[in-house]
Amino acid sequence: MTQDELKQAVARAAADYVAANVPAGTVIGVGTGSTANFFIDALAPLKDRFRGAVASSEATRKRLAGHGIPVLDLNDIEEIPVYVDGADEIDAGLNMIKGGGGALTREKIVAAVATTFVCICDASKKVEVMGRFPLPVEVIPMARAHVARELVKLGGRPQERSGFVTDNGNLILDVHDLKITDPKGLEARINQIVGVVTNGLFAVRPADLLLLGAADGVQTIR
Ligand code: 5RP
Repeated sequence: MTQDELKQAVARAAADYVAANVPAGTVIGVGTGSTANFFIDALAPLKDRFRGAVASSEATRKRLAGHGIPVLDLNDIEEIPVYVDGADEIDAGLNMIKGGGGALTREKIVAAVATTFVCICDASKKVEVMGRFPLPVEVIPMARAHVARELVKLGGRPQERSGFVTDNGNLILDVHDLKITDPKGLEARINQIVGVVTNGLFAVRPADLLLLGAADGVQTIR
């Protein structure tokens, strides 16, 4: 199976999960990226079962709207039973690195409101220790050099993502060479650097459920 076929399989499994577990008439949180895009496509036939979706990026908002799925403002929503999103890396504790698509801040906000975070990814994303994938950090532009210096002190090698502006008007520093043995501690530490909006570690609020696409089928990991 190709990587895209694995992503499609987990996306379908996530749509089945939503159909079976989410009460009719509620709101779904939807992530960003190629796996999330497959999920949106799989969700479209079910759109009459739920009230609408909260999008974690402009790209996701457009794709949802293209399927005729109502996109709601998070400020008008009190409860999101399920948030479905991909990841760049995920460990055994369901801690993740996210933000390869640059949507980490909005993803983290929607995840914070959601009751259950369902992570969907192909088997290549499952790792023992996170850090091979460079950790994205969203930064207020005027703080770029300061934040970069602080990230070097933490042992990282930050590189500005060239020509990229987030949906919030900020830049991304991708931090290479981190070996992330304390994801929760590092997430909190980086978020304390003045000028950081947030970083792509999702450990303070990890996933609750992982649907992992492998050659022999979709595994459910809690
Ligand atoms: C976007 C993300 C994505 O979930 C992550 O990059 C995985 O993307 P893909 O499903 O395309 O592999 O965090 O900001």
